[in-house]
Amino acid sequence: MSEPGWSRAQRRLHWAVALLVPLTLALGFLMVELPWRPLAPKFLAYQFHKSFGVVVFLLVLWRLVLRWRRGRPAEDVALPAWQRRAAGLVHAVMYGLLLAVPVLGYLSAASAPAQVPTMVFLLLPVPHVLAPDEARFALLRALHLWLAVGLVALALGHALMALRHHAMGQPVLRGMWRG
Ligand code: HEM
Repeated sequence: MSEPGWSRAQRRLHWAVALLVPLTLALGFLMVELPWRPLAPKFLAYQFHKSFGVVVFLLVLWRLVLRWRRGRPAEDVALPAWQRRAAGLVHAVMYGLLLAVPVLGYLSAASAPAQVPTMVFLLLPVPHVLAPDEARFALLRALHLWLAVGLVALALGHALMALRHHAMGQPVLRGMWRG
């Protein structure tokens, strides 16, 4: 299905996710470096990292539902076919990573020997479905970290391509900004 432009909800969701992912990444790097004493800043950084990650996961699910129900604008036929195929592939991988990274983060939190509880915005407790396990935690934590870095690298490439098309007078960036 193709639509004349992105809907307002689709545009808002795109920019909300684009803002939250680097914020969550930066908070992830910061929280692991914070000392254990005093405990409160580290605990709060973990809770907000996990909360933003959960919000990213839910917003991406919402984006996928909208895209499935409403579709997306038709691709610009002025672009070479290989570029359209490459863009489609990058978008699909980004959607996959946007769902996989929070899930791996949650599974890391559940496996962590330290068993820091997961409380969305300090209000909503999320039960840990796995028992603590040092080896599983190490594996999931590494996967979570490297896929998060991969996601942000891909998103940067995606942003640079959008800027390049914008500079060449193509309406892709304007379409995501103004519809
Ligand atoms: C877009 C979403 C997310 C991004 C980009 C992200 C990114 C990161 C990064 C960069 C780190 C630092 C890794 C390191 O230095 O070892 C990290 C660690 C971690 N994240 Fe996430 N994260 C996301 C979502 C989540 C979610 C939803 C949860 C849990 C509900 C979570 C739980 C954790 C845990 C438990 C750690 C390991 C901390 C430790 O080693 O003690 N993350 N994350």
